[in-house]
Amino acid sequence: MTAGAPRPPEPIPGARLLFSLDPAVAHLNHGSFGSVPIGVQRAQQRLRDETEANPMRFFTQGLSDRIEHTRRHLAAFLGADADGAALVDNATTGATLVLRSLGLRPGDEVLTTDHGYGSVRLATDHECRRAGATGRAVDVPLGATDAELVEILRDALRPGRTRLLIVDQITSPTARLLPTAAIVAAAREAGVPVLVDAAHAPGMLATPVADVGADFWVGNLHKWGYAPRGTALLVVAPGWRDRIEPPIVSWEQESGFPQRIESQATRDYTAWLAAPVGTFTLRTLGLDRVREHNAALAAYGQWVVGTALGVDPAALPDPGGPVAMRIIPLPAGLAGSLSEANELRLRIAGELACEVAVNAWAGRGWLRLCGQVYNRPDEYERLADRLPALLAAHTSRTAAP
Ligand SMILES: Cc1ncc(COP(=O)(O)O)c(C=O)c1O
Repeated sequence: MTAGAPRPPEPIPGARLLFSLDPAVAHLNHGSFGSVPIGVQRAQQRLRDETEANPMRFFTQGLSDRIEHTRRHLAAFLGADADGAALVDNATTGATLVLRSLGLRPGDEVLTTDHGYGSVRLATDHECRRAGATGRAVDVPLGATDAELVEILRDALRPGRTRLLIVDQITSPTARLLPTAAIVAAAREAGVPVLVDAAHAPGMLATPVADVGADFWVGNLHKWGYAPRGTALLVVAPGWRDRIEPPIVSWEQESGFPQRIESQATRDYTAWLAAPVGTFTLRTLGLDRVREHNAALAAYGQWVVGTALGVDPAALPDPGGPVAMRIIPLPAGLAGSLSEANELRLRIAGELACEVAVNAWAGRGWLRLCGQVYNRPDEYERLADRLPALLAAHTSRTAAP
């Protein structure tokens, strides 16, 4: 351990063995696609085996009850009203359904921030363009306090014109916990509904839905909730439920919310049905223990890698809460665009056997490191040892004519 570094957390015994990750690689990016514990993978495979043993029985006898049971379980886990919740495939789907339910018209706008996630911003722009409306992203400085942030958004709302505000509960490129409850309260005063993009919240925050009270909330279970990929929960306030249209119209169209959202004809429902095994795994490890471990490990990783890159520890961004992701500014001139960020990420993965996120945000490059129960302090220490030389080589290569 380096002098001055925060203390890394004690490992959770045996937790690493729950995952089937390649041991030759340091997986420091749980935030992008998660990692599904072996027990959850097995549960999903058992459901697929059951389907293949008798597809008729699987699809026509009790499937809707099993989906309802899963929805209720996940809603309770997140502190959501189960009657207002619908299973969807991912956060981008949930956001798209909300955008389509607004009945956008020419002249309307949907407000987002520059911390928003790329696919959700693209979906926003697409749905706005189709309706003759505008998607507008407000710049929020990284160093803004919670109070300043709420004021920036309050000032940006145009009552009567802003039809939706989309804010992230935990931002992706900047790994920040946003004061969503206060933002929702401010927007409510202006009569503007809010969609909280909570892709990272399930498993990371204790009761992320109940704490916020948004009109719409969507969270991925397949990141920090250990569910199979393709599992997310969309939570909708009572007045909006009848207005949410499904991705496709199918057999349950007349059944109303949430069945008509969830019933998507012949598709693979096994990810949803296996998702409670993910939350069970988290509970078995100890929810608070996992959260504290992951947030502390990410803080440790940020410190060792950040200081190795010459960043003043005081200048390392703080997420403002128990967030298991931390960002580090990269030297100027590196990863300032999406393609440069991807190129650098691939080089780090290829040469250092280390998976990280590299994002271009506000005109510069940022490294994002995550902490998860399968990570160890020495994985960040190894990255800290080797990254400065790789970045120097990368700078001279990309600077060459
Ligand atoms: C904040 C945020 N929103 C939305 C998404 C999109 O999630 P999905 O690909 O599951 O739709 C992500 C993915 O990382 C994210 O970080």
